[in-house]
Amino acid sequence: MTRSKVFGEVAELYDAARPGYADALVSEVLAYAEPGGHAAVEVGAGTGKATVSFASRGIPLVCVEPDPRMAEVLRRNTARYPDVRVEVGGFEEWEAGGRRFGLLFAATSWHWLDPHRRWDLVHAALEPGGALALFWNPQGVLDVELHGELAEIDRRHGVVNSPHGEPASGYRDDPGSWCQEADAECRRDGRFTDLRSVRFRRALHYDTDRYLGHLTSLTAYRVLPDERREQALAETARLLDAHGGGIDVHLMSDLFLARTV
Ligand SMILES: C[S@@+](CC[C@H](N)C(=O)[O-])C[C@H]1O[C@@H](n2cnc3c(N)ncnc32)[C@H](O)[C@@H]1O
Repeated sequence: MTRSKVFGEVAELYDAARPGYADALVSEVLAYAEPGGHAAVEVGAGTGKATVSFASRGIPLVCVEPDPRMAEVLRRNTARYPDVRVEVGGFEEWEAGGRRFGLLFAATSWHWLDPHRRWDLVHAALEPGGALALFWNPQGVLDVELHGELAEIDRRHGVVNSPHGEPASGYRDDPGSWCQEADAECRRDGRFTDLRSVRFRRALHYDTDRYLGHLTSLTAYRVLPDERREQALAETARLLDAHGGGIDVHLMSDLFLARTV
């Protein structure tokens, strides 16, 4: 299994358990891009966690998604929006067919794209002055003691980059490493202007079942051998149940914006 296909095998779980993106983030992107009635392109749309938020604001969308199982759920989730078109394939192989867009966005998917080609591909897809919006959802655990106990389970089972790897107090007001890396690459690229990074923060409670579903849908857990993953998840479930039956986090939405010159 290639790493980029880890999501399709749990597409329904992914869709049920993963959080979406802050409404304020969608407003910020639209205020920046001013797409009017023009179509935007979304790269790595998955099951539509961000897609639906943009489609419900009346934005026509072309969604590029390589995994057919994710695309199937995406089609279902966007069935009530006739202006959403799903094109199955990787962004690197995608044929824009002469179309240029005023907005391209990627929600938790930029890091899956070929780092040697993604800036050229974005540049080719955008019209002059077109906006690029990249965003991610890091989260921090509110209960410091619980954070420490979760870290111990992760350490024992070799879980790397789990979503409870940081306490909420470790997050400042500035966006984190995803945005910082995008900003640095974009500056090196030199074909973009008006670079901005913004962090949104909101409180979120997962009950134990939803949090387990969320973990199961993450690459950090998908790449573990099955038995190891089951053990890590079972211990995590017991711990959360002992802490009141769930976990409280601060969910960030970190947004990077730039436009072509
Ligand atoms: C973490 S998921 C994010 C999905 C969705 N945007 C969301 O916010 O829930 C990453 C997505 O990127 C897709 N992906 C992976 N490689 C890709 C590529 N080369 N081109 C476009 N999408 C890709 C995956 O299939 C997956 O749906």
